[in-house]
Amino acid sequence: MTGRPGWEDLQNGQATPTLPRKETARMNIWPRQQKEASDEQPVGGGAAVPVAERKSGKVRPIPEDALVIIPLRNAVLFPGTIAPLAVGRASSVAALQEAARTDSRIGFLLQRDREKNEVGPADLYWVGSVGETLRHVAVPEAAHHLVVQGQTRFCVREFLDGWPFLVARVAMIETAEQSGPEIEARFIQLKEQAVEAIHLLPNAPEELTTVIEAVTSPGLLADMVANLLDITSEQKQEVLESFDLRRRLDRVLAALGERVEVLRLSKEIGDKTKKEFDERQREHVLREQMRQIRKELGEGEDGAAEIEELKKQIDAAGMPEETLKHARKELKRLERMQEGGGEYSMLRTWLELVAELPWKSEDSKAIDIAEARRVLDEDHYGLDKVKRRILEYLAVRKLNPEGKSPILCFVGPPGVGKTSLGQSIARATDRKFQRVALGGTHDEAEIRGHRRTYIGALPGNIIQAVKRAESRAGVIMLDEIDKLGMGGFHGDPSSALLEVLDPEQNSKFRDNYLGVDFDLSRVMFITTANVLDTIPGPLRDRMEIIQLPGYTEEEKLQIAKRYLVKRQLEANGLKPEQATLSDSALQTLVSDYTREAGVRNLEREIGSVLRSVAMKIAEDKVAKVAVEAADLHAILGARKFESEIALRTAVPGVATGLAWTPVGGDILFIEASKVPGSGKLILTGQLGDVMKESAQAALTLARTWTGDALEKSDIHVHVPAGATPKDGPSAGVAMLLALVSLLTGKPVRPDVAMTGEISLRGLVLPIGGVKEKVLAALRAGITTVMIPKRNEKDLEDVPADARARLQLVFLERVEDAIRCAIGELPGPEQRRAA
Ligand SMILES: Nc1ncnc2c1ncn2[C@@H]1O[C@H](COP(=O)(O)OP(=O)(O)OP(=O)(O)O)[C@@H](O)[C@H]1O
Ligand SMILES: [Mg+2]
Repeated sequence: MTGRPGWEDLQNGQATPTLPRKETARMNIWPRQQKEASDEQPVGGGAAVPVAERKSGKVRPIPEDALVIIPLRNAVLFPGTIAPLAVGRASSVAALQEAARTDSRIGFLLQRDREKNEVGPADLYWVGSVGETLRHVAVPEAAHHLVVQGQTRFCVREFLDGWPFLVARVAMIETAEQSGPEIEARFIQLKEQAVEAIHLLPNAPEELTTVIEAVTSPGLLADMVANLLDITSEQKQEVLESFDLRRRLDRVLAALGERVEVLRLSKEIGDKTKKEFDERQREHVLREQMRQIRKELGEGEDGAAEIEELKKQIDAAGMPEETLKHARKELKRLERMQEGGGEYSMLRTWLELVAELPWKSEDSKAIDIAEARRVLDEDHYGLDKVKRRILEYLAVRKLNPEGKSPILCFVGPPGVGKTSLGQSIARATDRKFQRVALGGTHDEAEIRGHRRTYIGALPGNIIQAVKRAESRAGVIMLDEIDKLGMGGFHGDPSSALLEVLDPEQNSKFRDNYLGVDFDLSRVMFITTANVLDTIPGPLRDRMEIIQLPGYTEEEKLQIAKRYLVKRQLEANGLKPEQATLSDSALQTLVSDYTREAGVRNLEREIGSVLRSVAMKIAEDKVAKVAVEAADLHAILGARKFESEIALRTAVPGVATGLAWTPVGGDILFIEASKVPGSGKLILTGQLGDVMKESAQAALTLARTWTGDALEKSDIHVHVPAGATPKDGPSAGVAMLLALVSLLTGKPVRPDVAMTGEISLRGLVLPIGGVKEKVLAALRAGITTVMIPKRNEKDLEDVPADARARLQLVFLERVEDAIRCAIGELPGPEQRRAA
């Protein structure tokens, strides 16, 4: 017959453990088995054997070595365990009644097919447990409920006929208690795992642990655990049939191990989901509250709509694939974030920037050179050379739009039109114009932005300008690049600018805040500066310098007539027919009320005049005001720049020098006087080192020239006009003339100004800034300018009309200067000869 595993064990002489009383008692508390232990289909079983038949005593007695058998559909009774069972089949109820009548024990066997109602020997496993009924509740018309305690394993020898229920002759299997390290080790492990399993079970009672801990018999423990385990009845049957203790322990351990693994995992998952759930719940509640609060405050619930809007914008922005991916990811992150938090708004600001940046490559508009020329001429008077250079630049760009064109840099004094030329170029090429002021930029982050993780981080001013321009092919003017702060603690701004301006690198410009590359290669960068020498070398190398030296009075007059008056009329709400400024009035404004290389102050003065005109028209209800030169005094007050020259140089010891300054050149007076002393040279007027040395050299030369040893006196040289920086080697000639004039008592001609350095042998050495100095002299009303012979070539840059109005004297030696500005004097040679 099949279904008899366990026979080997039996033959090996193993025995079933006998249940110790004390443990049985404890086990009563196990809250278990209701679900598994149904012998019958739960409700409505067959009818019981009629009472009449039972009472008749017709039932044959059951032999000594035989047991009444009750088949179980889906439960295995283990020795040492207690199980509730429901008995419903007619034959089973009859068996139950017979056992009760004779007060005998029942054998429980698992049936192979749980669905089968009529079972015979072949339908049963032949190994089972003997059970003692602890409780029997008979419910009329329903199943009988039993509480059974398993006692001993048994093995069926043969089934006997002649009863209305199953009866079998059996052999009890009393397994001897085994021990030894192999058993012991498995026993301990089983206990540990069982305890762990209990802990992992969500609803297992704590007492179960105590029960398990108290078990001392490995066999019993194995049976108990197998009974409790959530395994199939067939698996349980296998355990039951494992008479060999070691094998049984191994089987149970394997099954339990698997179970513990599963429990662990599911607990882990459970914990995680619980945590996530808790957090989401919390967030949800808070959000809901916030929504309510907002509603109360009258703020709309616009978060979701906002994100939707952002999403659309991002998708439509035309950014590169890589950037788009990144932006979408960040948007997802935003969606999940708690609205209103600091990080939320930070991320949202970033996304807004990304969405708004002009990523799309616009078709570069073809440049129309003729139109560009027209616009440049329309906006600016003169500047022919500069305009020509700009048009050349535009022509190259037109022919080769992809090419790497140089960066234009306009250099010149304030108010000469650098910024407005940039605007003009934008207009001429039909591009957007943006200005970035670089003056005082010390921090690299101003150009390249702060990392997004900083609180209050912003993109750098380049990316901001691009965003404002709404175009990545606009004109960006980097103003005052010469006033860029030097690199320091916060990184070098000029190296960041290098990256912006370098055509090799700027197609992948990376702003720290933006965090993704942005292509700047189509931007037309134009820079401006007042002076060249403070522009960091590497930057200067990348730029094409275009000088704007400043205007002559005639040019200023023209600019005023054609542009400034018109603009100021408009600015002050006047119609052209309401106010006029005569040429002589403008001329006076240029010469007596302003002294500058550019036209900014001139424009301001014109503005002041027109404001007073506007007042007059408004108050006195006159229709028209014509301003003449004579009216200016009443409107603007005394003229600001009188000719100091005549006043100053009327006495011996004063000479007019010319200085180069960042604002376009100026005149300066050098005064010398003699005081009692011991031949010292006293210098005042905040002179730089180079100028002090010039003064020393001039004094030495003047002494030899005049033959005055100056033993009893000190010489005091003073250079007034504190605002002009007085360093640089260009005042030697003027110092010498002041000293010679002082020592000879002959004044220097007031209408002469000079520049040039001297050597101790009396040579005049070349200097810089000729253009600016010549224009400054003209502005100051000088008629004769003396410059070093070796600077003659620099005069090319001076406008022809300026040159025509000046007498220029070229100096090779100091004698030339003395002869021209003081008069014929006996030189050292003549005196020696005399
Ligand atoms: N040649 C010119 N024709 C007409 N207007 C001019 C000319 N030159 C300068 N201007 C006007 O003078 C004003 C000052 O010019 P702008 O602001 O461009 O000076 P800038 O060179 O940029 O000076 P800064 O170095 O101080 O920035 C502007 O209104 C400009 O239009
Ligand atoms: Mg400017």
